[in-house]
Amino acid sequence: MDDLTGQITLGIIFTFIVTVIIVKLSKRKLHHDLHARDVMKGHRWCYTGMFSRPCFCNMCETLIMASDGAFCDSCGVCADSPECIAAANKTLPCKVITTRAITHKHHWVRGNLPLNAQCEVCENDCGTEPKLSDWWCCWCHRSAHDDCIINIAEVCDLGKLSDCIVPPNSIRLKLSRMRKDLLIKEVLRPKINNWSPVIVIGNRKSGSNEADSVLSSFRNVLNPAQVIDLADRPPEEALEWCRLLASDVTCRVIVAGGDGTVGWVFNAIHKIKLERDPLVGVLPLGTGNDLSRVLGFGEGHSRYVDVVHYLKEELNKAKPTKLDRWRVHFVPNRNLGIRMPVRELFMNNYLSVGVDALVTLNFHRTRQSPFYIFSNRLINKMIYFTFGTKDVLEHECKDLDQRLDLYMDNQRIDLPNLEALVVLNIACWGAGVRPWTLGTGGPDAPKQDFSDGLLEVFCLMSSFHIAQLQIGLSEPIRLGQCSSLKLSLKGAAPMQVDGEPWEQHPGTIIVTHSHQASVLLRE
Ligand SMILES: *[C@@H]1O[C@H](CO)[C@@H](O)[C@H](O)[C@H]1NC(C)=O
Ligand SMILES: [Zn+2]
Ligand SMILES: [Zn+2]
Ligand SMILES: [Zn+2]
Ligand SMILES: [Zn+2]
Repeated sequence: MDDLTGQITLGIIFTFIVTVIIVKLSKRKLHHDLHARDVMKGHRWCYTGMFSRPCFCNMCETLIMASDGAFCDSCGVCADSPECIAAANKTLPCKVITTRAITHKHHWVRGNLPLNAQCEVCENDCGTEPKLSDWWCCWCHRSAHDDCIINIAEVCDLGKLSDCIVPPNSIRLKLSRMRKDLLIKEVLRPKINNWSPVIVIGNRKSGSNEADSVLSSFRNVLNPAQVIDLADRPPEEALEWCRLLASDVTCRVIVAGGDGTVGWVFNAIHKIKLERDPLVGVLPLGTGNDLSRVLGFGEGHSRYVDVVHYLKEELNKAKPTKLDRWRVHFVPNRNLGIRMPVRELFMNNYLSVGVDALVTLNFHRTRQSPFYIFSNRLINKMIYFTFGTKDVLEHECKDLDQRLDLYMDNQRIDLPNLEALVVLNIACWGAGVRPWTLGTGGPDAPKQDFSDGLLEVFCLMSSFHIAQLQIGLSEPIRLGQCSSLKLSLKGAAPMQVDGEPWEQHPGTIIVTHSHQASVLLRE
């Protein structure tokens, strides 16, 4: 009897512990700590082999010559040696993330003014002398001469980007549970007209080397806490901003990167289920960028991005709209009586089976090889194009129609002889081609819209056909539009979703509408 009671007690205790653990785990999933840098410890130094213009050390005031010169990407302080860096850490304050002050004041940094700086007081050119002289505010980016600065009022209105910035007196911090890190606890609403703060998400370790300098530029013009590097933090953490902001504030999320990064952020937004989704704007880096093109943000920036121009002229003028996202469900065929696990992912650009995916797959493999030069967009493009025209690849996807059954809205479709089947959500495919409207049948093709709940399906006869499409000399074989799609694959074939390729094993692929993402569209 005692034994039984003991066992029951143990059972209850065990269940209790398991429940506590499950509750804790699920809670942790719901909320992500939003980290903030402790600016009291020093600056956020970026080491640069070379400055794009003559810069003077903020400590010893000499012209920075050596390759160990560094600048703080948040506040713009420069230093020329480890000693001066250490001294600047101690004596010069960095751009604060938070303050208890009621009014926001200018934060003047001496020297190294932006080009074409003009004095706020006397309106003459400022910062033109070849020495550490004159001042600029690292928040509003206004400038003043050494002699004029005393005539400027203390209060800083954050300048022309004030609607994008989270002022430091709106942010409240707390210590993390282990008391190691600073976390953002609360965001108060500032008195700024049409305030719609911007959160920037990028990955400095992504394929394109531009991301690092773009994120640095954003730290320079915004509150540095508004910039989240996916190399250090998950996208869910960046989205914690949206939870902290009042629900009637429109939060804008800029994704600085390729379509893959944008998709990653969309997935995170969908997963965490916010009361109100942020509006996603794209700042395209690297190659491809088909989504960015259809949203009007262009094909991709080179190394130096004018982020002020981007925020003011591109983002602020873009309009909110919806983008369909599709659920792609993979059910593998039984293999030796064992069914492999079902896989699911989301698609917002396109998917394809066959030679088109093979081009992407080979491109992908090349990109991972050590001989591949990462950073050069032109070379990326050349490789893409070369693989697109190689005859050798054609054979792998020959007579794909024999291995493929296609159902559009549950209707079986008779397939012509083909080497690739492409399903579009957006108008751009293969780095800027708009296949749906190409050729003589283009004007009569049903209208394409990325928020109409419809997919466009077409096939390609060969990789030569792709090459012809890329230069606008051909026309796709249009199979029509549908709101759901089923593919039954009887042999292995290369496949890609949103440009991510792999070798797909036999099975069934089901594509259905999942949800819509909130995005910003530039006309
Ligand atoms: C300056 O401060 C930064 C940030 O806390 C730190 O990472 C860096 O090591 C410091 N550098 C020196 C030379 O003290
Ligand atoms: Zn120095
Ligand atoms: Zn700094
Ligand atoms: Zn200012
Ligand atoms: Zn002046």
